[in-house]
Amino acid sequence: MARITYIEHGGKEHTIEVKNGLTVMEGARDNGIPGIEADCGGACACSTCHVYVAEEWVEKLPAKDPMEEDMLDFAYQPDPARSRLTCQIKVTDALDGLRVQMPEKQI
Ligand code: FES
Repeated sequence: MARITYIEHGGKEHTIEVKNGLTVMEGARDNGIPGIEADCGGACACSTCHVYVAEEWVEKLPAKDPMEEDMLDFAYQPDPARSRLTCQIKVTDALDGLRVQMPEKQI
């Protein structure tokens, strides 16, 4: 279980507890958090689950695999350092306190 704070583009914060084994995207989707669309349902094929990870968390997350890296090229205004696809990040206890911010829009 990890408490994850999802921050809307405008600054509104939603902190929720997400079960281990779900993805960061599923945590947002299952709790109706706006700003993460996840059109492909988590298949790493749409880039509409894009977020900017808080700087202090960038190094703590598992590295991006090449498929996520490629798909991020299609995201709206990706930041090479902080952008991630939330469907590719599995929740574990180690993610407790994670903060992510949604972009102005998904593609
Ligand atoms: Fe489509 Fe993440 S949900 S790439």
